[in-house]
Amino acid sequence: MKQANLFERLHITHPIIQAPMAGGISTSELTAAVSNHGGLGMIAAGYLTPAELLQQIKEVKQNTSNWFGVNIFVPSEYEVEDCALHTSRTLLEPIRESLHLQQSEPTLPQANRDLANYHKLIDLLIEERIPVCSFTFGIPSKEIIQRLKKHNIVLIGTATTVKEAIEIERIGLDIVVLQGSEAGGHRATFLHAEEEGLVGLMSLIPQTVKLINIPIIASGGIMDGRGLMAARCLGAAAVQMGTAFLTCEESGASDIHKQAVTKATDSQTTLTRTFSGKKARAINNTFIRLMQSREKDLPAFPIQNTLTKPIRTVSSQQNNREYMSLWSGQSPMLASIQTAEELIDRVMQEAEEIWNGV
Ligand SMILES: Cc1cc2nc3c(=O)[nH]c(=O)nc-3n(C[C@H](O)[C@H](O)[C@H](O)COP(=O)(O)O)c2cc1C
Repeated sequence: MKQANLFERLHITHPIIQAPMAGGISTSELTAAVSNHGGLGMIAAGYLTPAELLQQIKEVKQNTSNWFGVNIFVPSEYEVEDCALHTSRTLLEPIRESLHLQQSEPTLPQANRDLANYHKLIDLLIEERIPVCSFTFGIPSKEIIQRLKKHNIVLIGTATTVKEAIEIERIGLDIVVLQGSEAGGHRATFLHAEEEGLVGLMSLIPQTVKLINIPIIASGGIMDGRGLMAARCLGAAAVQMGTAFLTCEESGASDIHKQAVTKATDSQTTLTRTFSGKKARAINNTFIRLMQSREKDLPAFPIQNTLTKPIRTVSSQQNNREYMSLWSGQSPMLASIQTAEELIDRVMQEAEEIWNGV
């Protein structure tokens, strides 16, 4: 059974992985709490510097002796196009004014600096003996894979199509996270145009199971025991839940974000590249509505992400949900405010009841 050894491989007692959630949502407390309660807690290093990641690793290690993982964004080439920059600035200016934003535009990112940061993060994982590393937005080079494997680090890739999952297995990663189109946050798509990587989990899992041999972790819209059992019936070994952990007490999401998720309905999320230049699922709001018609003309990730950051930050400080990136998957109606332990216990109890036919 190709899926059977995932528990041993990840040192977990429950088939639950806490989705890494970059931007301060996956706090050290959340990561440690999940690992302490039988799941796999994940640090989201996507936007972190090596010093910030080290700090977070230390905090998690202080709070759990169990395994946890680190998630890294694979950097991609991008160019700063003047025309796209102009479009973005023109659209953002009235929003900045309406929020009385004083702060000047942040320094734009540079691809070579992103790459240098990425390599330093990889070095740190090795130095700190992190047992599990997951990647999104692409796959690492063969050289990096070999280095990490030499240090016995379990490697996880993220796929949004069968083709991407096959590539993740072919290149030598150990496990694949399948991200269905229901998922909250950014799309991991790397071999297709963004709109092609939008396969629902119900279709994605069984088609992938047929063609690959590495274990599958399902993600996208899974919030409870029913979702866990459905994913396992389709052939996944475990689930990775984001939105369900986002509303947990230990999560770093702002109260306004947590409330927006717990009050949202199934039809209120949308896919948008307006916040960051990369497609992501969020609860619809004024910012998206104002920008959406021009989303194709905006700069690529991470440029647009940097340009909108001051707006998102000040909007959050002003408790104004209309200009924040309210990331959420398609099942917000199943979200509630609780501790990570309560969430894990509930999901496992529901799964057991289904298994026992209760
Ligand atoms: C707020 C938020 C931030 C996320 N950040 C990351 C990230 O840093 N790295 C990553 O691999 N996935 C990230 N994701 C995607 C998750 O790994 C996962 O695919 C998604 O949460 C699953 O859908 P769900 O939110 O409906 O559970 C994020 C998701 C959310 C909701």
